Amino acid sequence: MSKTATSLELTIGDRPSRTTNFEWLCKELRSAILEGRLKREMRLPSTREFARRYGLGRGTVVTAFEQLHSEGYLEGKVGVGTFVNRLLPEDFLQAKRLKDTMPPSKKRISAVPLSQYARRLGDPPHTQSLPPRAFRPATPAFDLFPLELWAQIASRRLRRATVALLADVDPRGYLPLRQAVADYLGSARGVRCTTSQVIIVAGIQQALDLTARLTLDPGDPVWVEDPCFPGVAAMFRSLGAKIVPVPVDEGGLNVEQGRRSCEQAALAYVTPAHQFPLGFAMTAERRLALLDWARRKHALIFEDDYDSEYRYFVRPIPALQGLDRDESVLLAGSFSKLLFPSLRLGYVVVPDRLIDKFAAARFTMDRHSSVIDQAILCDFITEGHFALHIRRMREFYAERLGTLQEAVRQQLQGVLRLDETEAGVQAVGWLGQGLNAEQVAAAATNCKVELAPVNRFILKKKRAEGFVLGFAAIGRRELRRGVDCLASLLEQQVGRKRSI
Ligand SMILES: Cc1ncc(COP(=O)(O)O)c(C=O)c1O
Repeated sequence: MSKTATSLELTIGDRPSRTTNFEWLCKELRSAILEGRLKREMRLPSTREFARRYGLGRGTVVTAFEQLHSEGYLEGKVGVGTFVNRLLPEDFLQAKRLKDTMPPSKKRISAVPLSQYARRLGDPPHTQSLPPRAFRPATPAFDLFPLELWAQIASRRLRRATVALLADVDPRGYLPLRQAVADYLGSARGVRCTTSQVIIVAGIQQALDLTARLTLDPGDPVWVEDPCFPGVAAMFRSLGAKIVPVPVDEGGLNVEQGRRSCEQAALAYVTPAHQFPLGFAMTAERRLALLDWARRKHALIFEDDYDSEYRYFVRPIPALQGLDRDESVLLAGSFSKLLFPSLRLGYVVVPDRLIDKFAAARFTMDRHSSVIDQAILCDFITEGHFALHIRRMREFYAERLGTLQEAVRQQLQGVLRLDETEAGVQAVGWLGQGLNAEQVAAAATNCKVELAPVNRFILKKKRAEGFVLGFAAIGRRELRRGVDCLASLLEQQVGRKRSI
């Protein structure tokens, strides 16, 4: 039988002035329970007895008991009385901190019933080390980003912020940024669009994910350039789309081959400005053939216009979207490489008929991108810093490309041939006969050089042995160190081959 609290256990302090009896009683009872003077499951005296013992009105005691009951400290048992609860609210609030190093149990994970989507996802990526090493692809120069200027713009924005900056915005994005992007795309990329067609997204990856969700059902065929950016193929796979690999040559995606493989595809994914990762620009003839196919088949084209601003020796090639007269093309671009990847901001220009669907999908997914980041980016663009940054980076990247080309010429003659590189943040180098890119890449990790074999980007058709060599993210010394390391590794491989 449970013990009833005695007056000893309920010794309670004096009531401070400006505190009501009710507030004081609740506080004293909570303290007595938490300090263990009133034990768990202990029965309290009846409200009548309690009121008499402490000289309180019975109504005050009844309301205080009700309050602590609703907070979870007391429980009432009909006909028996009021008890201190066995489990107190603090038991739930003070959960023990789990050890950060605890590895997730593979067994536990496999026992969770997963959706088809979850089962189609690949492994999560490894986080990349900093600073970037030679020859990390698809990465801009962090060391050259005007971080102080960005911080000034950010702090000015925050100092002058009104409450409007705290509220949700249209899922299509912060309107002044959409206007700035529409102006920029018209003048710099030959894109024909209104502000309402521009939707701010968390990068090209999200633009593609939204497009695929809105236009493809599981099993629907989609043309994907072969080779391609691995994130693109992973995304289509995760949604259960049927990837139709379409080979790429010097003229870009081979439209004829695509039609032969699957005339009825619902969507075509292309990188016409400079193919990822091979760097070819799609010819005018292929562009027209692709638009013609899309028009006749009522298919859509997703134009991934990633870092097309970085073209070093000739003017940037205008976007395919500018040639479209049938609302077939969605064009997506990103600030990940033009500015910095952690910003997670990009845009997609969509045909009028798809605007509302994109807005609804983005709202359902995650509402919109951070408004404060969008506002800072907007200032960066409209105050002219963006255009200036691109011009500056073009010069630095051209210089870094020159360093790579020169070092390869001097040290890798006969074993590695660099393709002509006119654009982007990476070059492609092909290995001499009999050399194996994966073996060299594995050995290069020992000297902390990152090599990405071309065949890691293929979907179906294996290519010759070569590497995608990022040059923009690293300075002259690191580029030369990378080439030195590559030269000694290739020498070892050639030596080994000769001795066999
Ligand atoms: C060709 C290509 N498309 C898309 C992406 C994804 O871009 P974002 O960071 O804007 O999602 C990348 C990233 O490297 C890329 O190289």
